[in-house]
Amino acid sequence: MRDMSVKEFILKELEKNRDDFLSGEDLAQKANVTRAAVWKAMKELREEGYKIESKRKTGYRLLLDNDLLSPQGISSYLDPKLKEIKIFSYKTIDSTNEEGKRLINETQGPFLVVSEEQTKGKGRLGRPFYSPSQTGIYMSLVYPFQEDVEMALRLTTLTSVAVSKAIEKLTGITVGIKWVNDVYLQGKKIAGILTEGITSLESGRIETVIIGIGINIRTEEFPEEIRGTAASINIKNLIRNQLIAEIVNEFYRLLEDPSQYIDYYRDHHILQGKEVYYLYRGEKNYGKVLGVTDMGELILEQKGKKITISSGEVTIRPLD
Ligand code: BTN
Repeated sequence: MRDMSVKEFILKELEKNRDDFLSGEDLAQKANVTRAAVWKAMKELREEGYKIESKRKTGYRLLLDNDLLSPQGISSYLDPKLKEIKIFSYKTIDSTNEEGKRLINETQGPFLVVSEEQTKGKGRLGRPFYSPSQTGIYMSLVYPFQEDVEMALRLTTLTSVAVSKAIEKLTGITVGIKWVNDVYLQGKKIAGILTEGITSLESGRIETVIIGIGINIRTEEFPEEIRGTAASINIKNLIRNQLIAEIVNEFYRLLEDPSQYIDYYRDHHILQGKEVYYLYRGEKNYGKVLGVTDMGELILEQKGKKITISSGEVTIRPLD
């Protein structure tokens, strides 16, 4: 086994067995290397920032507050049938969505791009997405797309359900969804989703969808423009690798049976019954939210008339 892969192998074993100590001897045997090679790999992992506890005569284990992103860590929490998904992990990148686009031609999808930091994180409607190092999740799922356009539109709402369910499962916190796909906690936004479709020039059809998800996990200071509206989950001992994997697991579970996600969406929809205004092409309109269609469009009552608006270029805010 090459030096690099000994390190990868050990990280995978440590992530898989977070609660137990693994003896150096067992690790050496499993990796088919010497104890000295195991020791060297541990040293390198520690130098990279992994917090590894070692106990004499017992072995090694990852500390609970160890929370660095890694393909090995994410993959250890993926459902068995998803283990083949390729994972690209970076310390810093401009945007995981952009990196996803760059990797499409050389990677058989689906695949996942994650980064500790984004220097040009993108939000919806051309806004930036604040992505400081190690305090959030910045991930893009690149998903080859064979379904119809109707399903492409629904992927965004389906993803907001996958994110909310995964957060609830790992933290016990109930979150809300603000149409279209912002995830809210106590009136503030903790996560956003930016879905981009890549159209093939030859067929003129969407062939790949890039689903970018940004979650504030423990960011404390936000830029002034979003200070009043953004917040973090702020839960101790939340393992980001595990949350990323759980989002992917949920996404695939919901895809298998898309009929069930819209009910969850409706139950968690924080604008239900609210008076809102929305901006469409610079024009301000008022209405009352009546519900959400099966397709994920918002149903509003406006001047006594029932209208539906789809996600497109709309900003929506409650009046109060
Ligand atoms: C929004 O709230 O407007 C959408 C935010 C989406 C942010 C995520 S972070 C990972 C991915 N890469 C990006 O550049 N954007 C998305």
